Amino acid sequence: LRVEALQELQQVGGPQQLNDLRVKYLGKKGALTEILRGMGSLSAEERPVIGQVGNEVRAAIEEVIEAKQAAFQQAETENRLREETIDVTLPGKKLGAGSIHPLNKVAQEIEDAFIGMGYTIAEGPEVESDFYNFEALNLPKNHPARDMQDSFYVTEDILMRTHTSPVQVRTMKATNGKPVKVICPGKVYRRDDDDATHSFQFNQIEGLVIGPNIRMSDLKGTLLQFVQQMFGKQAQIRLRPSFFPFTEPSAEVDVTCVQCGGHGCRMCKQTGWLEILGCGMVHPRVLEMGGYDPNEVSGFAFGMGVERIALLKYGIDDIRHFYTNDLRFLSQFVRM
Ligand code: PHE
Repeated sequence: LRVEALQELQQVGGPQQLNDLRVKYLGKKGALTEILRGMGSLSAEERPVIGQVGNEVRAAIEEVIEAKQAAFQQAETENRLREETIDVTLPGKKLGAGSIHPLNKVAQEIEDAFIGMGYTIAEGPEVESDFYNFEALNLPKNHPARDMQDSFYVTEDILMRTHTSPVQVRTMKATNGKPVKVICPGKVYRRDDDDATHSFQFNQIEGLVIGPNIRMSDLKGTLLQFVQQMFGKQAQIRLRPSFFPFTEPSAEVDVTCVQCGGHGCRMCKQTGWLEILGCGMVHPRVLEMGGYDPNEVSGFAFGMGVERIALLKYGIDDIRHFYTNDLRFLSQFVRM
């Protein structure tokens, strides 16, 4: 039996077969078990002898089975390791990561510049009442300046805001005569035909500062600081007299041409300057309507289009690029 078992075990091909053989020899109905069970019929002298032989045979078979099992396991582990090898030197697959849209990027930069000067951000509704969008900004009904901002009306008294100035009015009313220092970013709407420089919807960031003794020189210093952070230390500004119903005096602000540095080129039409925003000292009537006493406080305000700043900063020639989401355009800003 021993010889036969060991011979069979030598030829075993796999773990399943090995298990079958274990059952065949050592199982409950196995050959060896059978023999040992039959020992009851042996004589008292024979029993220990046969018993010892039986145990030796069992030990021998078990030993071989264990050795085989270990060998099978080792082979399997090696196989697995071979199959699951990872070549860590292979180049990885690149994931197509998105990036911040250039408009958001520029908006964030503008916001950061003013946050750095102690401003907080105020937001308001895009669907606005005539009162906040016009009336409280010193543009009474039938005021000719309303034509400056051709609007989308929802009803006679409700419209899509044409600027974020109504947020400034809301802020003034909410602060109950206390000083304010806010910027108001957001989407605005005007009835323009879309072309390279116009869009029926665009983004503005306006600012408002109110407090005792706020002067035009504060406005100018603030804007210079902003422009130099946005376009570089060499950038200069100039103020040209202008008109807005809600500011007096009013000015338009030019920055040194980013393309030619002020020497004159096509971008700045040989003037060396690019117009970037409108501003002025808050009109006394606007202060009054906002709940302030114009004899106690004064303020300045400014407003700029984010698209325009982005066009100038990156030398983009058509505002529509921002909205058509052509990846060839957008991917240029991934690492900027
Ligand atoms: N609200 C003006 C506009 O939309 C911009 C502006 C804001 C001008 C504040 C002066 C002061 O054109």
